[in-house]
Amino acid sequence: MKHLLKLLDLSGDEITDILNLADQLKYEQKHGIPHPHLQGKTLGMIFQKASTRTRVSFEVGMSQLGGHPLFLSASDMQIGRGEPVEDTARVLSRYLDGIMIRTYAQKEVEDLASFGSIPVINGLTDFCHPCQVLADLMTIREYKGKLAGLKMCYIGDGNNMANSLIVGGLKTGMTVAAACPEGYRPDPKVLDFANASPNFTLTDDIFAAAKGADVIFTDVWASMGQEGEAEQRRKAFAGYQVSRELLAVAKPDAMVQHCLPAHRGEEIAADVFESHAQEIFDEAENRLHAQKAVMVKLMA
Ligand code: CP
Ligand code: NVA
Repeated sequence: MKHLLKLLDLSGDEITDILNLADQLKYEQKHGIPHPHLQGKTLGMIFQKASTRTRVSFEVGMSQLGGHPLFLSASDMQIGRGEPVEDTARVLSRYLDGIMIRTYAQKEVEDLASFGSIPVINGLTDFCHPCQVLADLMTIREYKGKLAGLKMCYIGDGNNMANSLIVGGLKTGMTVAAACPEGYRPDPKVLDFANASPNFTLTDDIFAAAKGADVIFTDVWASMGQEGEAEQRRKAFAGYQVSRELLAVAKPDAMVQHCLPAHRGEEIAADVFESHAQEIFDEAENRLHAQKAVMVKLMA
């Protein structure tokens, strides 16, 4: 593994290796055991979009590993004024030991990796959110003790989160059921991969998708960059809410996960959010541990 660009590039074993290392690093951090695997290394973090969790967890994670995080707002860089990504990649490769990038086009991340000579980590694109889903899988494993054989349900927009959850779930042996309205389905590349598996179903019936689920995921109806479509999307996703009624058809001990930020009263009911807050904020915490594992695998 040279980069983390999308989960489609990883094998199930590679994902499991990252999760195992993440568990170990979490244990070490909780017990005050130093783990300075990246001493003297610098991670550049390019942000074209807003972030709370990704920025803070990468920054803190790099510090805990003994390295140095460098926050780079794209609007303050020449890339924001049109300097080509192939030049940015070659320049940054001379200074840094790794790059994390959050941007719109998946191609920009792939180009950064192919023109540069250092590891590139995808911190969210319109296509996928692999770091988030590694943390999600880590959290499910913590609560359920395994992944293989469990049923994951995704309700809502077939967006970056849906794309990564479907791939990550199937690659780790889960059954995945997605409920997305027509016109808001997951990416065709993801559906090509998923439809080859007997463990995948796509429907517009949220109750069919949630039936017997061990874990239910949802995400916002309008992602970053889609603010102008918010009204139209509110109509398209009416009825696609993770509510108490929906949870009633899942397993009695089903988890609820949300990558955050959450819009209570839209994709998730406020009472469901609060009654599953412990596991949702464990999920947010696990961004730190999962990404430290990714950085160690790629940069140590
Ligand atoms: N879940 C997530 O990526 O959060 P941020 O947008 O705050 O980084
Ligand atoms: N789908 C959301 C995820 C945010 C972490 C977005 O892209 O805005």
